[in-house]
Amino acid sequence: MKMEQVLPANYSEDWTSMHAANFHVAFENLHVPLQHGLEIGAFEGRTSRYFVEQFFRQDGQVLHAVDPHPKTVFWDNTLQARDEGRIVFHQMKSYDFLISQPDQSLDFIYLDGSHIGKHVLQDLVIAWRKLRIGGILLIDDYHWKNHWYIERLFPASLLRMTEKKYAATFYPKKAVDSFRKVYGPEVETVFENYQVCLRRFCDLDALVVAEEQTKLFCP
Ligand SMILES: C[S@@+](CC[C@H](N)C(=O)[O-])C[C@H]1O[C@@H](n2cnc3c(N)ncnc32)[C@H](O)[C@@H]1O
Repeated sequence: MKMEQVLPANYSEDWTSMHAANFHVAFENLHVPLQHGLEIGAFEGRTSRYFVEQFFRQDGQVLHAVDPHPKTVFWDNTLQARDEGRIVFHQMKSYDFLISQPDQSLDFIYLDGSHIGKHVLQDLVIAWRKLRIGGILLIDDYHWKNHWYIERLFPASLLRMTEKKYAATFYPKKAVDSFRKVYGPEVETVFENYQVCLRRFCDLDALVVAEEQTKLFCP
């Protein structure tokens, strides 16, 4: 069955329509041909389906979707696209998927998994390594804050800290800003709103000029 005959879907949330304009700008800003994409955090498959229906329409284009706990409806919602091989699902944490991938093998990555600062930073660092030069990394929920959610996850004794420290540990923004700062010249910011869209400009490790330095420099 081809994508033109689209099966009905069943969703409880819509985190797709509100970002559709961003998605189009992000894919338009790819500086490499789109072949392998990745969505971290698949949930009900709504955005996964939108991606493949809009952007992964040519033979050989594949969206990998990763989630350790997808919702039950994910399976039906993505059945057709999975049958066609346009979505390949991996039931695992982002870290486990990312480290299994070759460096610079992904053209597009959508980061929408765990929103805890530490996890976002870890995903950014490893995902970046797996992103092709000219590829796009789109981060959702840059300004996400949810005290209630954090309180349910962690013991109260751990949460007694200043507002600034709390935000740095439990929310995504500081992780994204720190990453951008440290990776400096490798990162082009394509746009920034509630989401942040980054393009990989270069690989600093590949640009070490002096032979003597190359010997000392073993990342
Ligand atoms: C906000 S939802 C994703 C929404 C989806 N991207 C969409 O647009 O419809 C977050 C998802 O991330 C998943 N998740 C949480 N931690 C994760 C991790 N370490 N790796 C991958 N996915 C994770 C959750 O199970 C949840 O389904």
